[in-house]
Amino acid sequence: MLKKLVIGAALALTPVAAVAAGGGDQHIEDFAFSYEGPFGSYDQNQLQRGLQIYTEVCAACHGLKFVPIRTLSDEGGPHMPADQVRAYAADNFSVYDAEADEDRPATPVDNFPANTNAGAPDLSLMAKARAGFHGPYGSGMNQLFKGMGGAEYIASLLDGYTGEEKTEAGTTLYANTAFPGGWISMAPPLSDEQVEFSDGHANDVRAMSQDVAAFLMWTAEPKMMARQSVGFVGVLMLTILSVMLYLTNKRIWAPIKGRKDS
Ligand code: HEC
Repeated sequence: MLKKLVIGAALALTPVAAVAAGGGDQHIEDFAFSYEGPFGSYDQNQLQRGLQIYTEVCAACHGLKFVPIRTLSDEGGPHMPADQVRAYAADNFSVYDAEADEDRPATPVDNFPANTNAGAPDLSLMAKARAGFHGPYGSGMNQLFKGMGGAEYIASLLDGYTGEEKTEAGTTLYANTAFPGGWISMAPPLSDEQVEFSDGHANDVRAMSQDVAAFLMWTAEPKMMARQSVGFVGVLMLTILSVMLYLTNKRIWAPIKGRKDS
């Protein structure tokens, strides 16, 4: 234990890292999401299931105020047909129209509504705001190999309730193996078979946790696919450039290096 503390102190370069190391007994599972790796991409069906879970369950407490509803039809995202997105917006959300001084059904040009009723944080950027992997000893090395793990954190959180609860100062807290500190005020939002998918996909808590986490990764980083492919082309071009520069360099120096008298 002492040794661990000494190494921890040595590696905790910043106070922030030291705090992250504090939540050491957090358990974050390294789920294999389809978008991981240089050639990964979002699973369109999974994003659509995640949207359904968000709409039927999470939207009761959490907003997605930075996400325009129209992006649901974006390629690389849930890629829903435009008329389906229009119907989805009108069926599920309404927005306050200041001119008419009344609520009207939402349209694709609106954002998802904010929701602060339950004191729950907005989820638009949550997958980027949380890191699943910190260690070892707060150095952040794991992020180099496993990624930031925001979606892994969310999935582990939703699937991490132990069933224990306690009341503190009038608030009920629920034991959770992924939440820093171990006690969260959000009641377990998911239960097995709570949401029915039209394709009959698995709807146990574990499967749904991953689906909604993938969806929230997309809301936080909708252009990940484009970013990855631009990055790949960039690396490829730099590689070709390196080879050509090497050959050019050899050729330029060839007459001088080949001289016998120097
Ligand atoms: C009954 C209301 C309610 C529902 C439904 C609900 N949440 Fe929460 N959620 C909360 C509250 C309250 C908090 C703040 C908890 C805290 O900080 O102790 C929270 C916090 C969170 C956090 C942030 C945890 C952190 O690290 O700070 C995430 C992620 C989250 N919820 C995801 C979800 C998802 C995904 C769903 C749908 C499957 C969902 N929630 C459904 C009330 C709710």
